Amino acid sequence: MGTENRIAPRESSHAIGFRSVTPEQLERTLTVEGTIPSWLTGTYVVNGPAKFETRERSLSHWFDGFGMLHRFRFDGDRVHYRRRFVESGAYTHARDTETLGYREFATDPSESCFDRAVSLLAPPSVTDNANGPLARYGDRYVVTSESPGAIEFDPETLSTVGQITFEDDLVGQVSCAHPQYDPIADETITFLTRIARQSSYTVVRIADGKREPIASIAVDRPCYMHSFALTPTYVVLVEFPYAMNPFTFRLSDRPFIEQFDWRPERGTRLLVFDRSSGRLLAKPRMDAFFALHHVNAFERPGELLLDLLTYPTPKIVEAFSLDSIRNDRMSIPSGRLRRVRLTIDDWLVSSRTLVASPLEWPQIVGHRRTHPYQFVYGVGKSDPSSFYDRLLKLETTGRTTCWHEPATYPGEPTVVPAPTPASEDDGVVLSLVLDGTDERSFVLVLDGETFTELARVPLDHPIPYPRHGQYYSTDEC
Ligand SMILES: [Fe+2]
Repeated sequence: MGTENRIAPRESSHAIGFRSVTPEQLERTLTVEGTIPSWLTGTYVVNGPAKFETRERSLSHWFDGFGMLHRFRFDGDRVHYRRRFVESGAYTHARDTETLGYREFATDPSESCFDRAVSLLAPPSVTDNANGPLARYGDRYVVTSESPGAIEFDPETLSTVGQITFEDDLVGQVSCAHPQYDPIADETITFLTRIARQSSYTVVRIADGKREPIASIAVDRPCYMHSFALTPTYVVLVEFPYAMNPFTFRLSDRPFIEQFDWRPERGTRLLVFDRSSGRLLAKPRMDAFFALHHVNAFERPGELLLDLLTYPTPKIVEAFSLDSIRNDRMSIPSGRLRRVRLTIDDWLVSSRTLVASPLEWPQIVGHRRTHPYQFVYGVGKSDPSSFYDRLLKLETTGRTTCWHEPATYPGEPTVVPAPTPASEDDGVVLSLVLDGTDERSFVLVLDGETFTELARVPLDHPIPYPRHGQYYSTDEC
């Protein structure tokens, strides 16, 4: 086709959330519009991709972008804002050389034939770019990603402390992006995926600065799993049939995520482990589906329940390519809250859609995790072709409440309970919202119960659309 026939893509208003920002370490004091509860005196931190190219080339996918932390410290009618890039090896290489030095999620530095030939001898390192969830390893604050090494940061200054390393012989090229911290046991549970001649998943406990395996299982085709289910008694890996061939992993010239193929004929396998002994209790199969995020899991007498946001296929991964997301090339698929039920005596599995409203970036209040719960918060879409343009509060009974303002795009909600909550939804919900009209962002503070606006804290510039956030109360940091 001749170039004269090409029409320049029209950038959507949410596309400002996918532009790079400069590495300057901004400090701002912001003014609260409205009234926030007097007990909200902690720190809200969000993390997300904020640099999408080097001088040499553009990154392909939203998840490739280099992570930047944004800190909002509540101080009465003011909020102290700061931002800083996570200084991973991948980011500092890109910053200092303006080239890509690591294999990112969907972008590989070995693009030319020469580079590919060289990389067969010495493959580029898998990225340590931490642009995802914020987690706790004991008293250490870390940002994680699919890479095995989490990066510790200071929640006040946002400076990078360094990569967390463990003196053990556990091996895994891929880590779960969402480790789960259990405050009662004071331990973090996660898992590693080893991609090798003999591939495996290893469930890991992190406590007292040490990492130890709980359970391990050999697999023929490792699958892509972004999160997992945890209860007081069980760890469940929901193995979607989005599988890779381990024999071609090292030598393939395809980026990491493109090495996974959708194999619906395999079905979805549930790997149920006893959390204490590590024993594999069951591995029932069910229909093929995909999910990025588990919502919660809990036990009731005789049954184990897993709630997660499911899709018929993993097309959402493709929909988050930067070209698609900036120019609306394809609709972002809508996830549905699905409840998977396992009977504990014979491990029979069944499932049903719990709430029909489309949802992503789910969060529940921290004290209900691994226990029965009523409310899920997340972001939704006004129609299938739109970007995430509303915040939702879903009851597991099906009732849905919404916050929406035209041409605004809320990021993942963070649920902050009141100091002595009278109910599960007693507290506030925070979200970093992108205003596509005024081209700036604001922190939104909603009443957790009524889901109405209490306050907003505007910035004078847009912040790239975040992936995940966390609130730290004053006594935590
Ligand atoms: Fe995630």
